[in-house]
Amino acid sequence: MAYEVDNNGVPLGRDGRAAWWTGVIYQIYPRSFQDATGGGIGDLPGITSRLDYLKNTLGVDAIWISPFFRSPMADFGYDVSDYTDVDPIFGTLEDSAELITEAHRLDLKVIFDWVPNHSSDQHPWFVESRSSRTNPKRDWYVWKDPAPGGGPPNNWLSIFGGLAWELDETTGQYYLHTFLKEQPELNWRNPEVEAAMLDSLRFWLDRGVDGFRIDVAHYLAKDPEFRSNPSSTSTPDAVKDYHEYATQEHLYDKAHPDIHRIHGRIRDVLDEYGDRFSVGEIHEFDWVEWAKYFGKNLDQLHMPYNFTMLWTDWNATDFRDRIIAQERALPRGAWPNHVLGNHDEPRLSTRFGTERVRAAAVLLLTLRGTPTMYYGDELGLIDGVIPPGNEQDPWGRRYPELNRDACRTPMQWTLDDGMGFTSAGVEPWLPFADPNTSVASQLDDPTSVLSLYRNLLRLRHEIAELALGDIDMFEGNANDVLAYKRSLDGETTYVAVNFTNEDRPVEFPTEVRQVLSTSAERTEAFTAILLGANEAIVAR
Ligand code: GLC
Repeated sequence: MAYEVDNNGVPLGRDGRAAWWTGVIYQIYPRSFQDATGGGIGDLPGITSRLDYLKNTLGVDAIWISPFFRSPMADFGYDVSDYTDVDPIFGTLEDSAELITEAHRLDLKVIFDWVPNHSSDQHPWFVESRSSRTNPKRDWYVWKDPAPGGGPPNNWLSIFGGLAWELDETTGQYYLHTFLKEQPELNWRNPEVEAAMLDSLRFWLDRGVDGFRIDVAHYLAKDPEFRSNPSSTSTPDAVKDYHEYATQEHLYDKAHPDIHRIHGRIRDVLDEYGDRFSVGEIHEFDWVEWAKYFGKNLDQLHMPYNFTMLWTDWNATDFRDRIIAQERALPRGAWPNHVLGNHDEPRLSTRFGTERVRAAAVLLLTLRGTPTMYYGDELGLIDGVIPPGNEQDPWGRRYPELNRDACRTPMQWTLDDGMGFTSAGVEPWLPFADPNTSVASQLDDPTSVLSLYRNLLRLRHEIAELALGDIDMFEGNANDVLAYKRSLDGETTYVAVNFTNEDRPVEFPTEVRQVLSTSAERTEAFTAILLGANEAIVAR
């Protein structure tokens, strides 16, 4: 096993304490967090200036920063043209060093976003690769001849629309791109590619980064025979199944079993450096397949992201099922995780309803497993409204209903002009989602969403079983109340969430006192209470 696990099933760091990545991760979309240079786009010095807020005001344990590497920004940084340099929009290499140093001074861990599946078409490797069929870097990308009789080599589709193949007129071959045509697929079956990409990890590990979020980590290996996908047998959901992409069963264009060898190699590099960490963006909803990304001996990803709660309806049964299913799917010693929002999805306030953001916060921060928070969710931020014609997201320009700009609007620090995100009078790259709220305006309000998040994060640090304990449902309550207990070393904390818009009775297995509620004051001890509409409670 790649790390020790204690008797309670908690992964341990090399110092024998709970591994740091069992703590709370906070995702930053760098374009939208803090603009220190005044151009209306966030940057690394901006993030550094807000680390104190993240550590000391909010209380998270680690930050994950979406890509800030050199990029033509066709997909806002997920199209990398130099894996080992900072894009001038975001700052310099020195700025990234300062960010890491300052975060570590505050005892915050730093996770960078690594995009190994594809580079930018402007990456010098691809420029060389496409220059001729005999170029030494030709095989660094996935090039195929046209099908016999002409046309693309097979029927694979791009998630962003259209075919996954682009014909290069000069050399007469097609290259593969699961995303934009500006994001050609790297060929991970070529050992030189593997070596070069692993070196890009070492570059940042040498500079002290604590871990990586690995972009589309389930796409790194495809069918070596390039078979066409069969048609889909399920009825696609227009919004969440990416339109025409959902017309196929994606048997051959991702997640070939060879992918596990690659994740083993990536892990070997991390392990050379001690307590480093990887979390994979894995859109895999078959729990058996999902669990394979931990590796048989927990020697692949530390965590494959669990996205099952992103698109569940707001109902207790579905959440309960997913909590139990993840626990059952985990290999021995593996650690669970939960995600309720990120830069690719509508905000949780939109998906679940604004009246549920508080209950969602309690869930995310009291379940067993690493929570990943998305910036702005601690304010209950809503999706922004992008004036038609002003869409920035390449995906949104093709499918307006899938536009990801809405969840990427700038962070709101104050109610001043520029909202503390950028200078007064400067137009931010996307409009603010809600000019009426901000960190400053919520900070002193004990009833604000921000105060709730701060309290929950404080509790997670103060109450060991909330961070590290077992989880069990406690029964005897209505189906639409999710009630669970977290236990460690003889101590137990209870959580109950009312998923309805009406009062619901809850019975606890023992007499408890309220530690926190999203809406009610209760000073007396109790064994049974009436939870208010959408109320969530933590009790001991
Ligand atoms: C991942 C990222 C997304 C990006 C895509 C292509 O899904 O989260 O933002 O567009 O990969 O890199």
